[in-house]
Amino acid sequence: MAILVTGGAGFIGSHTVVELQNAGYEVVVVDNLCNSSEKSLERVKQITGKPVKFYKADILDREALNKIFEQESIDSCIHFAGLKAVGESVQKPWEYYENNISGTLTLVDVMRKHNVKNIIFSSSATVYGDPAFVPITEECPKGQCTNPYGWTKSMLEQILSDIQKADQEWNVVLLRYFNPIGAHQSGLIGENPNGIPNNLMPYITQVAVGKLKELGVFGNDYDTPDGTGVRDYIHVVDLAKGHVKALKKLEDHSGLSIYNLGTGKGYSVLDIVKNFEEATGVKIPYAIKPRRAGDIATCYASAEKAEKELGWKAEYDIKDMCRDSWNWQSKNPNGYEE
Ligand code: NAD
Ligand code: UFG
Repeated sequence: MAILVTGGAGFIGSHTVVELQNAGYEVVVVDNLCNSSEKSLERVKQITGKPVKFYKADILDREALNKIFEQESIDSCIHFAGLKAVGESVQKPWEYYENNISGTLTLVDVMRKHNVKNIIFSSSATVYGDPAFVPITEECPKGQCTNPYGWTKSMLEQILSDIQKADQEWNVVLLRYFNPIGAHQSGLIGENPNGIPNNLMPYITQVAVGKLKELGVFGNDYDTPDGTGVRDYIHVVDLAKGHVKALKKLEDHSGLSIYNLGTGKGYSVLDIVKNFEEATGVKIPYAIKPRRAGDIATCYASAEKAEKELGWKAEYDIKDMCRDSWNWQSKNPNGYEE
């Protein structure tokens, strides 16, 4: 039996494929490569020594999905495929709702037609909006999202929960990721954003490698210890291992479960700059800029539920994350391009 990994050529997907193969799972990847390169899967093979079965297909393409389910013996799906750029989603809401929501509806429909009713869904801490309290537990009420991307996550959580409620044969795990950074320690796979990065760590590593001049720090007047935004950064390898634990949960016929995947620790933008400099010895010039629209002051997880119920806990610290992000970027200044 195999695990279908949608979006498996992407940043979190490729790291998860490594952990799944290391844990002995057979993996089938479907990805349309709209935000990734097939080279990531060749690199996965270099790491694990095992080839990855890959279908280049769009999850909106019902026929292509049907064929995959006919050819492969799939037993669960880890669903990463989706568009994820917050700013772009404000400019292109239709494209985001179509890709993320219609794509998931199509996938789920094909799954149930083939009697595959186990799914792990990539959700996000963004569903908490401006959180009612920190550390954020899974009981924290969902909030108002500030962009269509966030709404797709919030709506898809609702959709998958309703589907599970109506048909208890479904097992659904919603994983709410905090801020994934870092890269596999080999430096062979990592985050490969298109154009100028929106997220903090890829921006920092591109400053470090000399592609960008300086980091803009978006606001230093938040109600936080140093005035800059606080987030819960998590090593992508820890995050990937969380999916392997969540699969075990699915195998126990667990119904609907929701977990935060974070470390439980918050770091400010300036903490990250300092830790990056200490971990790598590379100086990061920065300038304070106005706040970015839609940003919140503080967001970090309570990671207790995942530890208690999944036996999962993040192991890497912030220095490891900075070191591994830099290892990947410095070895691959142009990502997967030669
Ligand atoms: P990514 O862009 O690297 O990976 C997503 C993959 O999905 C890409 O390889 C892309 O080509 C593929 N894809 C997109 N639409 C598709 C479609 N219609 N059909 C087939 N493939 C398609 O992003 P990532 O950082 O690895 O994120 C993975 C998932 O985790 C996404 O759902 C994302 O929203 C979610 N998430 C990411 C973060 C983060 O900060 N990286 C935080 C919270 C949640
Ligand atoms: N930041 C800067 N300068 C930059 C980029 C970011 O100062 O160039 C700051 C932001 O203002 C924020 C922090 O760094 O305070 C982190 O910003 P990111 O863009 O890296 O991450 P966000 O927390 O804004 O968003 C991320 C993902 C979303 C996801 C959210 C919650 O991009 O997809 O985490 O999980 F929804």
